Parts: sequence; structure tokens; C-alpha cells
Amino acid sequence: TLAACGTTDSKTSGAAGETEEKPVLKVGTDAAFAPFEYMEKGEIVGFDVDLLAAVMEEAGYEYELENVGWDPLFASLQAKDLDIGVSGITINDERKQTFDFSVPYFESTHMIVFNEGGNIQSAEDLKEITIGVQNGTTGQTAAEKIVGKNADNMLKYETTAVAFMALANGDVEAVVTDNVVANEYVKNNPDANVESITDKENFDAEYYGFMFPKDSKLKAELDKALTTIIENGTYQDIYQKWFGA
Ligand code: ARG
Repeated sequence: TLAACGTTDSKTSGAAGETEEKPVLKVGTDAAFAPFEYMEKGEIVGFDVDLLAAVMEEAGYEYELENVGWDPLFASLQAKDLDIGVSGITINDERKQTFDFSVPYFESTHMIVFNEGGNIQSAEDLKEITIGVQNGTTGQTAAEKIVGKNADNMLKYETTAVAFMALANGDVEAVVTDNVVANEYVKNNPDANVESITDKENFDAEYYGFMFPKDSKLKAELDKALTTIIENGTYQDIYQKWFGA
């Protein structure tokens, strides 16, 4: 893929002065997190995917988006094998020790998804049941705040989609995940007979950002592009497409 670097200008533009050669950026994601990123007919689609495209267009970059998976995404960014992670990634202090983040682009909190009729009123009830989380997510951290680190009743899955399967199978009684993803699953799976609740006492607001290797030179440039598309209505159009009114 490196061979492709710098070949795009001549193809896309003959304008004088456009001689600056930009690398083709490598972007990674974990595409099992609808509606932010998921696979449909062999393609990675979702809100994040459209947002990324808009930001890249605004900033004038070509890019390749690859479905690398959640844990490898962090490892590859740290090793600088990827330039950007776009995956509904929550900005937090722990991650900031190792990575840089863009300006925030989406507010999130956590929700509990459970089988209809389950007696779950608040996060405190997680202590009494088996719970599934995606390993290494803030959903895991949020659940651990209630049940404790490495609690016996918490099972960690490689993807959020697999955690939902575990709920459907009866391997766990609840899944703790990001609110928009929880709501999407409930809405799209009427036959699963699941419901979801939030808990404002126990689950805080958090914010998604694009994640970069530390001291990446891209941050300033992409912050500018992201801010521009938030201000010029492009973000709103994408939001509308995925989340309606
Ligand atoms: N926002 C949560 C976090 O950053 C979950 C993100 C999971 N994203 C994904 N594509 N699986 O930990």
C-alpha cells in the first residue's frame, strides 16, 4: 500500500500549485458496533464511516479504512502501523496517556440491555446477574464500577456484537454498552425480546473522538476539518441520515 503514496495528485487534479503530496492515511476500526461501524454486504458502513469520509474530504486526504478489530486497533495505533482509529472511541484520561484524540464529536453514556421481564431497575442490579461487556471498552469500566474488577459474574467478549449474541443465547443476563448501540440493537431485533435502561446515577456522559498515535501531526489538521464540518452543516446531515430528526 505504501507504493500508492503520492500518486493521487496527478490523478485527481491538474491544477497548478497542487504539488503537495499527502500520504494515503490508514484508518482502523472495529466494525461490529452498529450504528457507528458495522459490516453490510461486505462493506464497512455507519455514522463514523460517513463522518470519516467527510472529514477526509474536507482535509484533502485519501485513506483506507480497515476492519482490524478492537484490541488490534489500539496495538496498531500505538505501533504507528495505523494513522487514525475511528470506532466510537471514548476519549478518557487513561487512553490519553498513550494516544492523542481529536476534538469530541459525539456524546454517549452507558445502558444495560437485558431480556424482557428481567428484574433490572438500576445498575446496582448488575451485582445479582451475569453480565457481558466488550473487552477493553468503557462499558467494561462502567460495569466494573458496580461489580468490581474481574468480578466472576462479568464475561468479556471480543466484540459488542458477540456480547449481544451471548445475551440471546442466555450465556449472560445483561449487556452493558454505549447507549446508542444499545438502542439500535433493541430496535433492530424485535424478536430478541430485549429492553434497555440507563442509569444516570451510575453512568456518566462521555465523548467519542478520532484516536491518533501520540504526537501525531494529523491531529491539528483533522481537528480543523472536523470543526469545519460540524459548523457548516455536513455533520448535521450525517447525523440526520443515521439518527433522524
Ligand atoms: N465507546 C466505547 C469505548 O470507547 C466503546 C467503543 C467500542 N467501539 C467499537 N467499534 N467496538 O470503549
